[in-house]
Amino acid sequence: MNPLITNTAFFAASPIIVALDFHNTTEAINLVHRLDPEMCKLKVGKELFTIAGPKFIEQLVVSGYDVFLDLKFHDIPNTIYGACRAAANLGVWMINVHASGGMKMLLEAKRAISESSHKPLLTAVTILTSMNEEDLKQIGISDGMDEQIKRLAKLSYQCGLDGVVCSALEAKMIKEVTNKAFLTVTPGIRLVNSLNDDQSRITTPDTAIKNGADYLVIGRPVTASESPKTTLLNILSQLGILQDHHN
Ligand code: C5P
Repeated sequence: MNPLITNTAFFAASPIIVALDFHNTTEAINLVHRLDPEMCKLKVGKELFTIAGPKFIEQLVVSGYDVFLDLKFHDIPNTIYGACRAAANLGVWMINVHASGGMKMLLEAKRAISESSHKPLLTAVTILTSMNEEDLKQIGISDGMDEQIKRLAKLSYQCGLDGVVCSALEAKMIKEVTNKAFLTVTPGIRLVNSLNDDQSRITTPDTAIKNGADYLVIGRPVTASESPKTTLLNILSQLGILQDHHN
C-alpha cells in the first residue's frame, strides 16, 4: 500500500474510477503516484492513450491498478473485433464501445472478449453524458433521451455485454429494463449539483450511488482539485466506503 494512506481503513471496494484526462504523461504519473489501487480504479481515454500508448497502460496494470481503457470504439464489426482483442491483450479491467454501432458490432466486440485469454469487462456508451435532448434532435433522434438510452441499453444487454456507460440519472431505469446485475458506469459526476462545464446530465457521488450506479467515473472534480488525494478520500468517506482516514 502507498505509505501516504497508511492508517486508512477501507471496508469496501472503491466504486470510483478516476479519469486520467491529462495532456502529458508526467502529470498523469504524478497523480497516479499520489493515489493507491485501493482508493480507485483508473481510466485512460483517447488523449492520454494517444500520447502515452499501450506501454503506459501496461505499467498501470503492473502497478496493481484496475484500468478502464475508455477508447469508445465505434467502427465496422471486423475492425471492432481486432480492436477489442488488442485492448483485452493489454490486461485491462474494462473496455468500451459505442452501443450506437449496432448489434453486429456489439456481437463482434463480445466475441473478441470471449476468445481472449484475458477477459476485461465490456461496456457500451449509450448517449454521451455531455449530450442533451436538443443535441439528440440535431442528429435525428426525436423520440427522446430516455427512449434512446433504454433502446441502446437493452441492445447491449441482449448482445451479452457486461454493462453500459451512462448518466447516474439513468442507472435505475437501465437496470429496470435489463437486469440488476447489468453494470452502470457513470460519468457526469459533480461534487455540487451545478453545471459549469461541458457535462450535461450530472449528479453528485451520493445521488449516483443511491440511484444504483455501480461505478462512478470522476475526472476534473478530482484531478483539478487542489489536493486530488484528499478530495478522493473525502468522497469515499461521504459514501461510507472509508471508515477512517488521516491526511
Ligand atoms: O472531468 P469529468 O468528470 O467530466 O470526466 C468524465 C470522463 O468520463 C471523461 O474522461 C470523459 O471522456 C468520460 N466519459 C463521459 N461521458 C461518457 C463516457 C465517458 O464523460 N458517456
